[in-house]
Amino acid sequence: MSLSPQTPPSVNDFLPLNGTDHVEFYVGNAKQAAHFYKTAFGFQSVAYCGPETGVRDRVSYVLQQNKIRFVLTTPLTSTHEINQHILKHGDGVKILALSVDDAYDAFEQTTKRGAKPYQEPKTMTDEFGEIRTSGIYTYGETVHLFVERKNYNGPFMPGFKKWVTPFNPPTAGLLYVDHCVGNVGWNRMNEVVKWYEDVMGFKNILSFDDNQITTEYSALMSKVMSNGNGYVKFPINEPAEGKKKSQIEEYIDFYEGEGVQHVAIATSDIITTVRDLKSRGVDFLNTPSTYYDDLLERVGPIEEDLAPLRELGILVDRDDEGYLLQLFTKPVEDRPTLFFEIIQRKGAKSFGAGNFKALFESLEREQELRGNL
Ligand code: FE2
Repeated sequence: MSLSPQTPPSVNDFLPLNGTDHVEFYVGNAKQAAHFYKTAFGFQSVAYCGPETGVRDRVSYVLQQNKIRFVLTTPLTSTHEINQHILKHGDGVKILALSVDDAYDAFEQTTKRGAKPYQEPKTMTDEFGEIRTSGIYTYGETVHLFVERKNYNGPFMPGFKKWVTPFNPPTAGLLYVDHCVGNVGWNRMNEVVKWYEDVMGFKNILSFDDNQITTEYSALMSKVMSNGNGYVKFPINEPAEGKKKSQIEEYIDFYEGEGVQHVAIATSDIITTVRDLKSRGVDFLNTPSTYYDDLLERVGPIEEDLAPLRELGILVDRDDEGYLLQLFTKPVEDRPTLFFEIIQRKGAKSFGAGNFKALFESLEREQELRGNL
């Protein structure tokens, strides 16, 4: 593992990013998906667009929890291009939207460095002000949308109206998007890493080869890409040869291409958050109880009691700067594709490499149950 200190913001950063603006999912039934994210994960109703707001071909529900904004979109006709995405990939992440100060410049800077355009820069206005957006393709059919909302104070964007509903389950302590991981195909990781370096000015801050992330059966390689100020981090995974099928390959088979594997969400109290999410019906990966037998020898002293960590299956890892606690949900669709990570950082800036082996052994037990190992 090579861990380099967070690079300070560069004066030459040609693509300054303020963080994640939102994550948009293309789903088969946005109305029901919105209910799931509210009930299971504690997201709050924010905005809606659809026929009632003058949008004839699709509906979108906007949900928010602290700094995390999810958009769930479903087309209304069989011939809609969004349906081609859903037909091929199932429900999944289409857009990782990034907050910028200048969406026109973000498009110019990235396309002149080779990015494939998704959406030419455009300005949308309504009584709440002005939003400017532009977009480029990244791996697979996934898109980075650049969103400039500094002159806007409406619920989400022009075309949306405030979503008012009497059904508002409490939040679950989810704070912000910590990182979003992409799965790419065989021999593609370095190509994608170079794309993030050249096109978006990101740096490779951490690398794992297949000797570090391997179990008896399945292996993968991973490189973590970060923007200059560290607000946006995109680890990129590639399958590696093992005795049996890599879980990254299983994802690519079922997503039918490259795409977002997991979105990691930060909490400041993982024990309370995970206990709450479990009580709301969120399924997490099981951690073998033997994982805890030598945990403190592996990671050193931690502030948390071992008992609730063991009870909830929460994983712990340490790097040079501190430790982190994390846990992964099971896939949130029937295809074994997208899942979520809940993470609490206590100084650590890494991603839990020490947990990969424990995690993957657990993942593989699930994979075996599906007959795909
Ligand atoms: Fe992660």
